[in-house]
Amino acid sequence: MKQVEESYKAFLAECHAKNLQRHLCDVEPVTAAKIRVKGQLFVNFASNDYLGLAHHPAVIEASSQYAKDYGAGSSASRLVTGNSHQFTEIEEKLAALKGAEAALIMASGYQANGAVLEALFDKRILKAAPHVVADRLNHASMHFGCKAAGVRQFRYHHLDAAQCREKLEQAEPGAPKFILTETVFSMDGDVAPIKDLVGMASAYDACLIADDAHGFGVLGKGGRGLAEGADITIGTFSKAMGSFGAYVAGSRGVIDYLIQRCGGLIYSTALPPATLGAISAAIDLLPGLDEARAKVASHAARFRQEMQALGLGTGKSETQIVPLIVGKAEAALALSNSLRDKGFWVTAIRPPTVPEGTSRLRVAFSAAHSDDEVADLIAVIKSAREHIDLEQTEAG
Ligand SMILES: Cc1ncc(COP(=O)(O)O)c(C=O)c1O
Repeated sequence: MKQVEESYKAFLAECHAKNLQRHLCDVEPVTAAKIRVKGQLFVNFASNDYLGLAHHPAVIEASSQYAKDYGAGSSASRLVTGNSHQFTEIEEKLAALKGAEAALIMASGYQANGAVLEALFDKRILKAAPHVVADRLNHASMHFGCKAAGVRQFRYHHLDAAQCREKLEQAEPGAPKFILTETVFSMDGDVAPIKDLVGMASAYDACLIADDAHGFGVLGKGGRGLAEGADITIGTFSKAMGSFGAYVAGSRGVIDYLIQRCGGLIYSTALPPATLGAISAAIDLLPGLDEARAKVASHAARFRQEMQALGLGTGKSETQIVPLIVGKAEAALALSNSLRDKGFWVTAIRPPTVPEGTSRLRVAFSAAHSDDEVADLIAVIKSAREHIDLEQTEAG
């Protein structure tokens, strides 16, 4: 034990020296837009609760009622006795909403990507090693799924459909082909060229898998997300849907296959009733939330415009996620701290979560933010700009 402890300590010292050490911080949620930390109230611009559903009365009510009616836990995996009828009801609603033949609820987005990709890329079932072409900025959980399956990824430059095509063309004859992308990239707020990828998947007989974690609920017609045309969509209920859990949507065959082969479904306890209640209520609310979706979009558009006028880069963001790319980790931390001093919580994102030299503040907008809160955030950044050296990079 002593030997391994020394290695971990050395790693921690290195993180500390590079300003890259991460800390857990106790947070008390107060409303959909506010948190309290160490007794101080902050406007929260770091949350993924884009529609404020985590605090929506109907979602909370359904969650509490399901716990009262069905208990605190599901007691077993879905293949044992954990598969309450609410799973089937939600999966049917979800499949109809996504225009898919079937859907399957999973424990979390991270777990879904890890476990589902591992099962889909199984070369014993596919009878050949799969050729997996992936956007290089895909989420860590997608890399984890590829690693778990033992597949090599052929990575294309971020959003570069032409290079995706080149990488597809490098497949060995007969190799089963996959394209792997997020729809909305979680750290950049930019959007994958889904239509091009759908066309390419069809032309090359590849299976397009899209992670719609940050699209579902908040973007697309009726909040249906941006994965239209993908063969398999993986999404979460933990962001715009306000609670927890994830899903896979696709053909009946793919879902039936996953029920046989997906370890994360088979060997893990089913989601608890309270979570199913929250998911079900949020899905029912989605069609009526156009106004909330428009409000999020307008907050983000206003912020981007103001930052650009200040000469601050917001990358290619076109969604509710707006990166303020400042370059060095120290600059991102200094800006985040100076916003905290003024009552705004915006997280600094540093390597390895984002590439070296592109440290940033990730500003996430919610329908729960007021126009005044957005205006105040802009004003505070304007004033911080005057005393912090914000090295702008090309990425910015
Ligand atoms: C693109 C993407 N996929 C998956 C996940 C993981 O989802 P969850 O938080 O439900 O585990 C995230 C969350 O950060 C994400 O941004």
